[in-house]
Amino acid sequence: MNKATDTTNGGLKVVPSQNLLGADIYGVNLKLPLSSEDKQFIEKAWADNLVLRFRGQENVTPQELTQFSNALGDLDKRPVRGTVNGGYNDLPLEINVISNIIGDDGKPIGGLGSYEADWHTDMSYVDIPPKGCVLYSVEIPPTGGNTSFVNMYEAYNRLSDKTKQKIANLKCIHDASKNSTGELRQGFTEVTDPRNAVGASHPLVRIHPVTQQKCLFLGRRKNAYIVGLPLNESEELLDELWAASTDPELKWTQVWQLGDAILWDNRCTMHQRDSFDASSRRLMYRTQIRGELVMG
Ligand code: SIN
Repeated sequence: MNKATDTTNGGLKVVPSQNLLGADIYGVNLKLPLSSEDKQFIEKAWADNLVLRFRGQENVTPQELTQFSNALGDLDKRPVRGTVNGGYNDLPLEINVISNIIGDDGKPIGGLGSYEADWHTDMSYVDIPPKGCVLYSVEIPPTGGNTSFVNMYEAYNRLSDKTKQKIANLKCIHDASKNSTGELRQGFTEVTDPRNAVGASHPLVRIHPVTQQKCLFLGRRKNAYIVGLPLNESEELLDELWAASTDPELKWTQVWQLGDAILWDNRCTMHQRDSFDASSRRLMYRTQIRGELVMG
């Protein structure tokens, strides 16, 4: 995938990072409705750069964040059995809270705590995973809690021809039982054999519906299983694909500043979050843009 160079459109400007994905976009105010021209410009920049960062977006309300995200597609609602508590449950249903803060009711106000979140694709364990997410920083810790992304087009392109041929028509089961910090989700039992994991099964090689390019589509490493292979062969091939995908050369890291919002494409990137000091506060609002069936 070629990275775009700096581009401008009226008041908007895209400045790609030095890495294989990620770009800053200037001239957008998340508090205001998007014109159709600006929307088109953002969509093109998003397809070219996979992750966009909007810096200096101060005091964006949950309603404004919802309105901005909604301009890019229909939004998923947070799960009914969600993890939003402590006064934050009045937020629009399209807003999910990612936080380690404990509310007045003694419960975490959001999900993921202060732990490290392993490399993953959001909700790839469902048949129609989200196409992307917007994550907005409301409170951030002095250090840590950074979010990294990898370019899954490049992960695919760099595989040997032999591996590309091997995985061309294979599907993988994306286990639903654990979240990205490794916690067992409510209602699931511990998986002892990945062949019995419960979750959607998707092609390992995905055609991106916008760019029509091939990318590797992986969800979470734990309990993944390649359908039809003996378990040891599935494990070996998955290890090879995960090592290729999480190569530091494919990575761009978002070091958070207050007022940053990032928009990522969940179809052609994976992400991971560092841990941070549990005694500091981190509060992020997240929206999730509805996706489409995964086409191989
Ligand atoms: C996530 O994995 O969706 C959360 C990322 C973050 O907290 O930075």
